[in-house]
Amino acid sequence: MSLAMKALQKEAGKCADEIKKQKSIHVVSHIDADGLTSAGIICTALERGKFEYTTRFVKQLDEKVLDAIADENHDTVIFTDLGSGMCELIKSRGINAVISDHHQPQGNIQFHINPHLFGANGSYELSGSGSTYLLGLALGKNNDLSPLAIVGAVGDMQHLKMGHLIGINREILEAGVKKKILQFKKDLTLFGKQTRPIYKLFQYASDPYLPGLTGNEEACIEFLHSLNIRFSKDERWRLWIDLEIPEKQKIVSGLIQYCLKSGIPSYKIERLIGEVYVLLKEREGTEMRDASEFSTLLNATARYDHAEIGLSVCMGNREKAYEFARKLLAEHRQNLVNGLMYVKEKGVIQLENIQYFDVGSEIKETIVGIIAGMSSILVENRNLPIIAFAKADEGVKVSGRATQDLLRRGVNLAEAMSVVSAEVGGVGGGHDIAAGATIPKSTTEEFTQKLDMFIGEQLRKKAHST
Ligand code: C5P
Ligand code: C5P
Ligand code: ZN
Repeated sequence: MSLAMKALQKEAGKCADEIKKQKSIHVVSHIDADGLTSAGIICTALERGKFEYTTRFVKQLDEKVLDAIADENHDTVIFTDLGSGMCELIKSRGINAVISDHHQPQGNIQFHINPHLFGANGSYELSGSGSTYLLGLALGKNNDLSPLAIVGAVGDMQHLKMGHLIGINREILEAGVKKKILQFKKDLTLFGKQTRPIYKLFQYASDPYLPGLTGNEEACIEFLHSLNIRFSKDERWRLWIDLEIPEKQKIVSGLIQYCLKSGIPSYKIERLIGEVYVLLKEREGTEMRDASEFSTLLNATARYDHAEIGLSVCMGNREKAYEFARKLLAEHRQNLVNGLMYVKEKGVIQLENIQYFDVGSEIKETIVGIIAGMSSILVENRNLPIIAFAKADEGVKVSGRATQDLLRRGVNLAEAMSVVSAEVGGVGGGHDIAAGATIPKSTTEEFTQKLDMFIGEQLRKKAHST
């Protein structure tokens, strides 16, 4: 066991002892896949321990939300997948808090499980659900919940940095493999292997982008024809998991040939194959069987004000809640397609160091970050970070997405969002590769110019230092 894991477990033990003293517990979590899996873990652990609890899901923690929580006078509030950036504001309201998170901490607080505090990196070595899994272990015999910790990490894309999970995430994964509830294997990394017709995998490929295939349904079908792959059976589209191994090999080598011919650099082609995570206790052909598809199913609930549905699925409901979640998923996919079409029509504006688009109120602010990530399949120049703006209740929501290549060249979106949003009177933060902010309504123009300059500076600094 790593030192960081040991130290985190010790801290989790302290937090669990505190929780055990309390009667009324309130769980506050984030409305994305990592937030829902975190809540799924802690709520299951609390239920098993016969604790009384209530839940609350928020887009982000701000002073208004903290005031409302403080007014409710809970014995203890467990913050999962958020809270670390708000230690002082939580303390100043007299909230008895346990924080289980992985965002960059600001200030300090007594009961606080966060990898950054114990020498591990919270953007790729442990997620919010991973921290919360350690808390769950300290509360009782909950080691059957590790698959949720892996789904949360994959939902936050923590496996993308190295092409596989590392650090404490890996330790959790390996314990789950030993217990025969998790499996990792090398496979095609494209999305939808459990549930989508094979050609859709190429049509929606964004990393790497497949020129001529991405976004072009007919070409994808033709590509499979040219490889002699039978792609329907009994009038049903075949899925990736339905294919025989030689068929999979044929497609993978066909794809690699295709990429080489299209001049895609080999380090990008390598990303077609990577580690994928299988939840062995889930039924094959369902979203929950694959960590990546499970996380998308969850995003389709909480980001549309139905966090209770996602939470229920995380806690094992495979009937009504799952059925509803699948409906929401179909709508979510449609919204993503519509969102992408909207961006394609309206176009993306290029500045010197960033490119951006503004969706106004056409796309929900809770999914504009996902659209920003996916819009890399549309833009001509993938060497500029993509910034998206959407109308929000209180101002303008900003979402930024970079690439590994841009990080290597010096870009850090978390730093840029945090500094530049503060300059125009907003708040922001996140991770180097994916960050967000909320800024006052009339400051978009100023923010955009300043962000362009700030990122230009990050690139110049790095270029000079190497
Ligand atoms: O708030 P939180 O940390 O949970 O969100 C992380 C966000 O960063 C997710 O929306 C995830 O999709 C995004 N991300 C990304 N690419 C990466 C890593 C993270 O878009 N390589
Ligand atoms: O909302 P979006 O998916 O673009 O968020 C990307 C990352 O930025 C997430 O980790 C989120 O928690 C973080 N973020 C933040 N402050 C904000 C908005 C987003 O730290 N105001
Ligand atoms: Zn998270």
